[in-house]
Amino acid sequence: MSRPWFDLHSHTVPGVDDGPVTPAEALRLLEKVRREMPEGSVVAATPHYSTTMSLFALRSRMEKSRRFAEQVSSQELRVLCAGELKLGMRFSGFHRLLSYPGTRRVLVEFSHGLVWFGVLRRCMRLVKDGYLPVLAHAERYRWADASRLRFLSGIGAAVSMSLRSLVISRFRKRAEWILESGCCHLVTSDCHEEGDPVFGSAAREFVERLCPGSWEVLAAENPRRILEEEPLPPPTGGYGRG
Ligand SMILES: [Fe+2]
Repeated sequence: MSRPWFDLHSHTVPGVDDGPVTPAEALRLLEKVRREMPEGSVVAATPHYSTTMSLFALRSRMEKSRRFAEQVSSQELRVLCAGELKLGMRFSGFHRLLSYPGTRRVLVEFSHGLVWFGVLRRCMRLVKDGYLPVLAHAERYRWADASRLRFLSGIGAAVSMSLRSLVISRFRKRAEWILESGCCHLVTSDCHEEGDPVFGSAAREFVERLCPGSWEVLAAENPRRILEEEPLPPPTGGYGRG
């Protein structure tokens, strides 16, 4: 029996963002996740949030997510509540509410047009406040080359790659690059609907083909370290080759 996997980025809460619309759709998606992941695995429900939204809207989305996660969590598959926070100009403090439970690590994204300097500034602000960013779908940003991703790792950020990028043609090549180059600490599904890739044997085979020996590190070991606030090893790549 395989040890648990940890998917730290998913849109599985119904009616809060661009994920499932109805509870029935959300349950079908989670049923697929449950079938594919080993017993005792964890999926983090990370609806979209933004530093420009109101505190009221944020709290109501959080509350819906919390209730849903409580309802669907089981021994087979634990569903945690966190958020994917789009970091804007404004320093909202919302990262303190949306970090992974019991940790100071928070999943973040940026506007697609944001330049490197803006990314750096926003990340440094989090770090200064005692929080560490987990970069969602790093492969989607133009600024994200190997040296910048390594720089962000150096200040404590975790770099993640979304399996969902593999089914979006404009992101596919970069998603493959990020795996091959060994620039990421973890893979996530970022699933929004039943048809999206989730953690399972197909995902594992795909990741292993591009970066042999990496699946356990990217889907189990490193994300577990994030949830337990253990330091991450540098993303050196070449997992299992030496
Ligand atoms: Fe997402």
